Amino acid sequence: MSDLPKIGLDLGSATIKLVELAPAGKNRWRLLTAASAGTPAGGISGGQGDLLAVAATISKLVKESGAKSRKVIASLPEEQVSSHVVEMPLMSEEEAKQALQWQVEQYIPIPEEKAVWSHQIIRKDTAGGGMEVLLVAAAKGLVNGIVGVVERAGLEVVALETELMATARSEVPEGYPLSLVVDVGAKSSDIGVVKNGQLVFSRTVPTAGEAFTRAIESSLGLDRAQAEQYKITYGFAADKLGGKLMAAMKPVLSVIGAEVKKTGEFYVSKHPGEIIKLVTLSGGMAVLPEVSGLLSGMVGMEVAVGSPLSKLILDKNQKKITPADGPFYGVAIGLAMREI
Ligand SMILES: Nc1ncnc2c1ncn2[C@@H]1O[C@H](COP(=O)(O)OP(=O)(O)OP(=O)(O)O)[C@@H](O)[C@H]1O
Ligand SMILES: [Mg+2]
Repeated sequence: MSDLPKIGLDLGSATIKLVELAPAGKNRWRLLTAASAGTPAGGISGGQGDLLAVAATISKLVKESGAKSRKVIASLPEEQVSSHVVEMPLMSEEEAKQALQWQVEQYIPIPEEKAVWSHQIIRKDTAGGGMEVLLVAAAKGLVNGIVGVVERAGLEVVALETELMATARSEVPEGYPLSLVVDVGAKSSDIGVVKNGQLVFSRTVPTAGEAFTRAIESSLGLDRAQAEQYKITYGFAADKLGGKLMAAMKPVLSVIGAEVKKTGEFYVSKHPGEIIKLVTLSGGMAVLPEVSGLLSGMVGMEVAVGSPLSKLILDKNQKKITPADGPFYGVAIGLAMREI
């Protein structure tokens, strides 16, 4: 295991977040620095001009934060990644890789020659029941775009990982054998099933922060900037603006809540006897006032806002990431925690 500091870079559709951590013993990291900035229009899925703007934003964040490491673990957008759990007979990592080579195309929506994929054994039944392998694939064009942008900013991509894999590492508390994690960002809400710390199932729904802002805009007749401000300031507090804010936002949250519930029920129907007891909430929308209580009522499970700072050693008086902002940085923190 390398003790050198690493940078986690979350290339979100609304905000780019950078976190630098130094390993400090088993499951401990020291927070060195962090910074965030708005994502330029188009982001990493945009054209050449957009990519240049993203590279410039990353350079700015490195400078502003004073991060010294050049090694980056970058995020892959969940909705552009396809992941599957494949059942296989017991075999070694290398054998699994070779076996998957021939079948990868049946699991992914892109031709094999245009895909980058990797695998990880997530369950081995040594009593002879075979094993489960997590297969993750993304388009080469996407991966090359991210690597190119990061290099242009003077850094080096040492690994890529999906947003939920990172969140599962940084925010899901120990002591829950099976739980759900939900990352509500700007454009998408990503929902994952986490078993013993490992992401085993994920899906994404296109309803998130922007949908809440739009709902406030149209219900309350506000412009975008005002709607965004009210959303962030008051969140789901029932009494604000005579209850109108809550009335505008609640239906959007119930769309996400229904998908969370469905995901949990689907997983349990395939794995009878397993029980989901906790939902960890992450992403920019998790920092809104009163969101966890409301969501908890909708899904019928305990919902806890993620606290990735609890796994970090923080300098006294540090102001890089406040506890309230923890879930906003959850993906970047999880990425920087990854062993390479
Ligand atoms: N303090 C905050 N700073 C930034 N965004 C916030 C804050 N509080 C709430 N939000 C909301 O969170 C959303 C952005 O969240 P986040 O940064 O997690 O998205 P993202 O990672 O860029 O998007 P995605 O994961 O969908 O690509 C926005 O809709 C924004 O309104
Ligand atoms: Mg995000």
